[in-house]
Amino acid sequence: METVHLTLHDGSRIINETIRKDMNLLEALNHIPEITLDAPCGGKGTCGKCRIKIIGGDISPLTPEEKKLLDENEISRGVRLACQARAMGPVELAFINTLESGNIQTEGRAYQGPVDPLIKKVCLQTEEPTLEDQRPDEQRLLEKLPEGSRIQDHSIRKQLPFVIRESELITATLCGSEITALESGDTSEKQYALAVDIGTTTVVAYLLNLKTGEVAATESGLNRQKSFGGDVISRIDYIGEDPEKLKKLQDRILKQIETLYTDALMDADLEENDIQGIFLAGNTTMMHIFSGLNPRHLAVAPFIPASTEKMILTPGELGSRLPRQIRFILLPSLSAYIGADIVAGILSTGMSVSDDISLLVDIGTNGEIALGNRDRILTCSTAAGPAFEGANIQCGTGGIPGAISKVCGEDGVLEWETIQDQPATGICGSGIIDMTAYLLRTGIADYTGRFQDESDWGDTPPENLGFLESDENNSRFIITRDNKEVFFSQKDLREVQLAKGSIAAGIQTLIKESGHSMDEIKHVFLAGGFGSFINKKSALEIGLLPEELKDRIVTVGNSCGSGVICTALNRDDLKHCEEIQNTAEYLELSSHKGFQDEYIMNMYFPESLLCIK
Ligand code: FES
Repeated sequence: METVHLTLHDGSRIINETIRKDMNLLEALNHIPEITLDAPCGGKGTCGKCRIKIIGGDISPLTPEEKKLLDENEISRGVRLACQARAMGPVELAFINTLESGNIQTEGRAYQGPVDPLIKKVCLQTEEPTLEDQRPDEQRLLEKLPEGSRIQDHSIRKQLPFVIRESELITATLCGSEITALESGDTSEKQYALAVDIGTTTVVAYLLNLKTGEVAATESGLNRQKSFGGDVISRIDYIGEDPEKLKKLQDRILKQIETLYTDALMDADLEENDIQGIFLAGNTTMMHIFSGLNPRHLAVAPFIPASTEKMILTPGELGSRLPRQIRFILLPSLSAYIGADIVAGILSTGMSVSDDISLLVDIGTNGEIALGNRDRILTCSTAAGPAFEGANIQCGTGGIPGAISKVCGEDGVLEWETIQDQPATGICGSGIIDMTAYLLRTGIADYTGRFQDESDWGDTPPENLGFLESDENNSRFIITRDNKEVFFSQKDLREVQLAKGSIAAGIQTLIKESGHSMDEIKHVFLAGGFGSFINKKSALEIGLLPEELKDRIVTVGNSCGSGVICTALNRDDLKHCEEIQNTAEYLELSSHKGFQDEYIMNMYFPESLLCIK
């Protein structure tokens, strides 16, 4: 195999790698674990986000995809798409955009229930053996522990004769009935677990004190699998049937969790053995990849998961380097597109134990929806596409510093804000919803989603509104050119229309299928990072959420994270997740006739709200 040298400039650091000649640069960069390039389409050459700058070297000619997605100015500056450009000889390049964390939703509902975790330490005193009492060490230990306790990991048995004789006291860690660790002396003061929400976009870990229930530290970051695709389908496509590629993505998330684990230990001033368990939830694809199950069949009809069961796995079974006493507890999922994250969300909102009818809406690359109460819960998932995460929006970006996250203009004057007040670099989900509402409110776009001619904009002078530029293919509403040109185009508006139509139709279909009226719905829980940051008024104006429910909307933050925390702190909550898994119903929308009709109706924006000029 012929190899070539790659030099990468990433800010002040320089990384040198040897790569295969003819390899595309996205693939080459994905070999560097600490690098995550934004690549929402997973290398198909359709999103245009994997821009890099070639400083020198021997690179393959521009592909038709690059000619379509890069402008002349960019091409003249050496900008290329990493997934299209191939290294034909030594190459030197620099990043334009790597992924940085910005608005990651880590807040959720505080845990208020009793602390009775599945994983706990028990300190005990064993009787010394004598010639009259020759019970084996294992029996001596088990008789002091709750009935049914057992040793499963043989290495514990090997340790036992020594630990039991080192001190009068011995501390056993139990995960349910399994003894997962033995320590001499009383270490029962230090009992911790991590609760991890593995999102497609972000990963959040909470370090929990299993004695007090307190959150001792919170760590987060963008999901390091993002350079293999922004949404689950791109990542499933990348993996295909190749076990090596599955392993590569599994390693990415395992390593990321190992890093969050180390950071949490440092922040809370703890030692390695102080954490005994890691509880995790994510969508079904994330759970498959994490546990090393090929997610391929999730993406093709009839959408069958390999498993949706709760799993308790050891570091050895996963290939993780974390200490062997740790148990990974993976929450159960419901179906291919209602994952453990939604099960955790249902748990944390309390809707499955309440008499009130509640609607839970979690908007990400899919819109996941649950409706019901203690008697019945119906769920569905809509393929919303990644528009609200900025992926297929031309200037779209995640919630990173510099992303336009708010757009307002009640009186028609365009105003906007960026995350952390940084110079504008793009527009993220909450900004996209606001922008759409603004365009509709001012009459720049009509209810069919078509940009109007400037003469139809109304009385407000156009210079206060921003302005449109058009070519034969697309019209672009220029938001700013201060730092970089950031615009919102006719094509973008069409993407938003598809995504909002899909989610709104999912909500309407579920409500109809449940037989409940709008009046009966007492709470609307808006979950997830996106749900927390969007302006509810804009979401109502564009018809993403039903107007009838406007006074009942509450944002619940990271409902998945809150749910995982509950399961780590209380074994009954973990059991309740399995009850939700067994009783909640899943409605497949792709073959649902009513959904198709609702989708067509919800493609348009609400006409009645477009009166603010
Ligand atoms: Fe390269 Fe999408 S265009 S990852």
